[in-house]
Amino acid sequence: MNRAHALICSSGWWARTVERELLPWGLAGVELGDDVLEIGPGFGATTRVLTRRGGRLSVLELEPGYCEQLRRLLPESVNVERGDATQMPFADGRFSAVVCFTMLHHLPSPELQDRLLAEAARVLRDGGVFAGTDSLGTGRVFRLLHIRDTLVPVSPDGLPERLEGAGFADPRVQRGGRSFRFRARKPAPCVSFASG
Ligand SMILES: C[S@@+](CC[C@H](N)C(=O)[O-])C[C@H]1O[C@@H](n2cnc3c(N)ncnc32)[C@H](O)[C@@H]1O
Repeated sequence: MNRAHALICSSGWWARTVERELLPWGLAGVELGDDVLEIGPGFGATTRVLTRRGGRLSVLELEPGYCEQLRRLLPESVNVERGDATQMPFADGRFSAVVCFTMLHHLPSPELQDRLLAEAARVLRDGGVFAGTDSLGTGRVFRLLHIRDTLVPVSPDGLPERLEGAGFADPRVQRGGRSFRFRARKPAPCVSFASG
């Protein structure tokens, strides 16, 4: 994140927006279960809201400095891992849910975004949910905030197909204002019984 972007993401205004608007909308009707992974927590505005729901919570963040800060500021129960969401340091099938907010556009190419989607599917349990939000990337201020920063907007129109390509079922994507929300499920494997 560049300086201006970091200032906004660490501000009280962003914390209130996340708490009152973004997460309630992004996660409406989504059952996260008992072991949740958040990708790209940044300064932790989204994570702080997630800690209130109980259950196990892990976060995976690329920037070591943000990780140190998160370890200082978040409750000790939150597992803060430094790592790259395109190569997650977690076992297959571990989490009941994977979530991310306003971060997919920070992946530097559509190929790396697809790798993140595939990794989210790998670390989810069968039946687990992948959900979150991102900005449409169309607003002028949003674009200004990303000068000399990564901005590869994800098109909500193409996302359902990309989620299916990563192994998800029932992808749902919905626009709201300058953002979109998404959710999809890792399918349970089909069990077939041989006859005879
Ligand atoms: C705009 S911030 C969003 C922070 C937080 N979700 C929020 O809404 O306040 C995006 C975060 O994603 C992190 N990030 C970018 N690429 C990543 C990757 N490949 N793996 C893990 N985190 C990544 C960035 O370091 C940054 O902290």
